[in-house]
Amino acid sequence: MALFGRFVVMARIAVTDGMAKDAVALLEQSGHEVILGTISSTDLAAGALGEFDAIIVRSATKLPADVISASGDRLAVIGRAGVGVDNIDIASAAEAGIPVVNAPRASTQSVVELTIGHLLSSLRHIPRADRGMRSGKWEKKAMKGTELSGKNLGLIGFGRIAQGVGAVAQALGMTVHTYDPYLPPKVAKAQNTTLHKKVETLFSNCTHISIHCNLNDETHHLVNAKRLSLMPGRSNDGIDCGNHIVNCARGGIIDEDALFQAMEDGAVASAALDVFEIEPVDPSSPLLQHEHFHGTPHIGAATMEAQARVGLDIARAIMTVLDGGTCETTVNAHLLT
Ligand code: MLT
Repeated sequence: MALFGRFVVMARIAVTDGMAKDAVALLEQSGHEVILGTISSTDLAAGALGEFDAIIVRSATKLPADVISASGDRLAVIGRAGVGVDNIDIASAAEAGIPVVNAPRASTQSVVELTIGHLLSSLRHIPRADRGMRSGKWEKKAMKGTELSGKNLGLIGFGRIAQGVGAVAQALGMTVHTYDPYLPPKVAKAQNTTLHKKVETLFSNCTHISIHCNLNDETHHLVNAKRLSLMPGRSNDGIDCGNHIVNCARGGIIDEDALFQAMEDGAVASAALDVFEIEPVDPSSPLLQHEHFHGTPHIGAATMEAQARVGLDIARAIMTVLDGGTCETTVNAHLLT
């Protein structure tokens, strides 16, 4: 299979995890048939994708190797309406000659804003204060927080989202550090950011850490007990602000049991997660019961603006491939021969 798409004039496109109306309309106006609705994992493994020329998923639909190999010859393109492709076996797709395309830029601003929201919420105890007020408590004294200004923020991964978070953090008076083994040093320099060669030195320099890398074998449980124990707890401005963790990237990068234990021990003062190793997260998870934890159900890209952009970007990407072209956001291009 060449890098170019298979020319399909009137395609049947499965959209299994929802998509903005305008994006559905764009595909339909271009002559394609859009079938909206979930397909069970059992049906997917039994070859349900054999009836489609394209499928567009978000993170809920999983497309592992067996689903791809059961899909037969018809499937010409897989679209990921979003950034992360850890729910798709992109190597198996390439083996079957199927390009996997994504929409990497559309949700950047939304995830940046959620990350900053989580940081501020943790530091000013907003979820805890709200929970207290609802149960009749007026805990003014117990809600003394700290400012972001004057603190070191460590960003694990320094792609588009992290750079956006870094820029806002700098505007708020934070000093930004990063660990990203794939980053050309000049990019960090241009953003006035200290690039660490070892993730350990990022942890030992930063009281606030936010995750912005992909989940893969290299990053699974990258945030573990040992590294959390390196965080200084005291900021450069001499404030005992404690240590704070935010993750709006992917679950599984943080060892959640280690994070809970670090919160119990006081090594970590707060944690705010939008993503979990297993989603939906078990509501009885000890982490969720911790007073200094707050979370959101993987809503980084869940804004009207991001979803509108994601939908249109992925619809255009899918159409490019169905028109026989190559899409610049083909994530398995290097594996397609
Ligand atoms: C993404 O990878 O685009 C985000 O995590 C959003 C999502 O999965 O819906």
